[in-house]
Amino acid sequence: MKRDICIALLLLLAVQVASGQDTDDAVFNEADTPVTNETPHALYNKGVELGIINTTKYTFKSFENDDLTIFRPIYTQNVMNSTDPVSYEEFLINNNYGILADTQESLFERKITKRSTADNKRRFVNTVKKGDILITGRGIGGLVGHAAIMTTDNWVLEMPGGAGWQNGIKDNNRQLTKHAWFDVHKSDWTTVYRNRNADVARAAAVWADHTYYNPSGGTKKTRHITYRLTDDIWSTNPSYCSKLVIQAYYFGTGKRKVVRDLSLIGKLIVPATIPNYFLSPYTLVNKGKF
Ligand SMILES: *[C@@H]1O[C@H](CO)[C@@H](O)[C@H](O)[C@H]1NC(C)=O
Ligand SMILES: *[C@@H]1O[C@H](CO)[C@@H](O)[C@H](O)[C@H]1NC(C)=O
Repeated sequence: MKRDICIALLLLLAVQVASGQDTDDAVFNEADTPVTNETPHALYNKGVELGIINTTKYTFKSFENDDLTIFRPIYTQNVMNSTDPVSYEEFLINNNYGILADTQESLFERKITKRSTADNKRRFVNTVKKGDILITGRGIGGLVGHAAIMTTDNWVLEMPGGAGWQNGIKDNNRQLTKHAWFDVHKSDWTTVYRNRNADVARAAAVWADHTYYNPSGGTKKTRHITYRLTDDIWSTNPSYCSKLVIQAYYFGTGKRKVVRDLSLIGKLIVPATIPNYFLSPYTLVNKGKF
């Protein structure tokens, strides 16, 4: 299951070239380094002040739970243990507290639904279309969300990340059917986003398929992409989940200005904020969560 986790966080900031310092092998020691001096209340209030958290949609109680069970473990395992870590507060802000920017819903919202899993899956497979962007919450282990793109009405293309990401994971790109993808992520909500412009969506899907799977669109994988979080937003190898998705809409859609200039974007493309990158009239429509 670990393989299915995309650890697309601020890691990038963390693994960036440290300012001229040479080998700093001080390994993080949980016992004597607190994650933060801020109280959970202060961290939550910061998110409210910044307009990231809507207190109706993401209660303090939910945050308190996610803070302990999701954010702190990821931070300590993945960010703090690096040469140039960002503060815990910055880490939360950069990940938008795991909240989808458009709906203000947490990626880690409990999956409570009257529908059965089978019903939910049926709705999912009947909804998704070529070019759609899938965004989901945790897998098992450390993640702050995951994103993927539909390259046809049936196939999902993704960079799942997984164990060993610190050193890069060779040949991490893969395609799986929408049915298989749903099964992997069935215990978390998957939110489906669709571009308002169908031509744009199709073009992005083709670019993603040709660049990240097979240049002639064949069913055999001929492109082998290494998973690695770097601050290079232009290269297609190495790459990671949400970078693949944004690149497809940036590079694959011709002269149209679909995605805001990548050079303006921060250092890492975080799954929860993907909808923010799109420019009118090519913004994304939320097709629901499944
Ligand atoms: C917060 O969510 C509630 C419930 O959906 C909504 O009515 C309200 O407008 C939201 N507040 C802001 C500031 O977006
Ligand atoms: C922490 O960093 C060290 C040195 O870079 C590495 O060997 C170790 O696997 C890391 N631990 C975790 C939990 O990521």
